[in-house]
Amino acid sequence: MVALARVQHATPQPAADPQFAADVLAGLKATPKRIPAKYFYDSEGSRLFEEITALPEYYPTRCEMKILREQGGEIAGLIPEGAALIELGSGSTKKVRILLKHAPKLAVYVPVDISAEFLRREAAELRRNRPELPVVPVVADFCKPFGLPEMARTASARVGLFPGSTIGNFEPHEAADFLRNIGKILGTGATLIVGVDLIKPPEILNAAYNDKQGVTADFNFNLLTRINRELGAHFKPEFFEHHAFYNRERNRIEMHLASLKRQKVRVGGETVDFRAGETIHTENSYKYSVDSLNALASGVGWTPLQVWTDPDKYFAVAAFRFAAPAA
Ligand code: AVJ
Repeated sequence: MVALARVQHATPQPAADPQFAADVLAGLKATPKRIPAKYFYDSEGSRLFEEITALPEYYPTRCEMKILREQGGEIAGLIPEGAALIELGSGSTKKVRILLKHAPKLAVYVPVDISAEFLRREAAELRRNRPELPVVPVVADFCKPFGLPEMARTASARVGLFPGSTIGNFEPHEAADFLRNIGKILGTGATLIVGVDLIKPPEILNAAYNDKQGVTADFNFNLLTRINRELGAHFKPEFFEHHAFYNRERNRIEMHLASLKRQKVRVGGETVDFRAGETIHTENSYKYSVDSLNALASGVGWTPLQVWTDPDKYFAVAAFRFAAPAA
């Protein structure tokens, strides 16, 4: 009886994702140390990111929302009636909801995201909002090939939506692979609408990733908390510091967790050594120009159609058509 009660009250450990464990250990053994940015998004990470989007310094979400609100009619003009709308890395559905206001009747909306719990909540909310719209969420890592649901495959057209400058997390060659892959999944004649953060003065970029309230730092530290919880590691976040800076040569913001001292950390049965000042590289956020994005997309079969920007040209929403399966 007592034993049973204990079992019931034990904090459930989420089943450790073997890929997460393998990627984290490989990344911590590598030089320099790194962890893929996609692992920020456990449910707490997704919540913290939503908090980031409301920060005064973090302009991308506000700029993109402004573009969608003010030019949503034109953008949604690229979505034909009866189309399947497939949103990649959807996170919050607040962007697609603006487009849906202008879009004709869709066959289906397919949000694709790695965070199952967040996806389920957002899908449920959208169903309440738009009861007539079929919503078929897919839990998938969109870096890898994934299958479209039946309703999206049989719809008269497919439109991909990749907002939020998530494309900036990829290395440019990975972004090209990703676009080629999405072209294959959506098929010839498909449309893709991509949100991308534009190159701008470094002060503005640096401020956006070093907010005064420290929410971006918490978002970065949450990765260590997640590793502790899911992989049984012993990181002490207070012995690390949030570093974020614009790398001008490579047009990217880099985020790191810098060790404040020489230390050893137990991670899933192994010991990881840190020199004082040594960092774990946790994220790249590449910035593009309209031309560099168009060149990247054109190279893998996506013909540029149209671009919309905010008045400051901080952010762009660009549309492409998939011409033919790339070789
Ligand atoms: C979701 C990848 C677009 O790069 O700006 C925000 C993530 N990282 N603050 C970005 C992020 C730190 C964000 N993206």
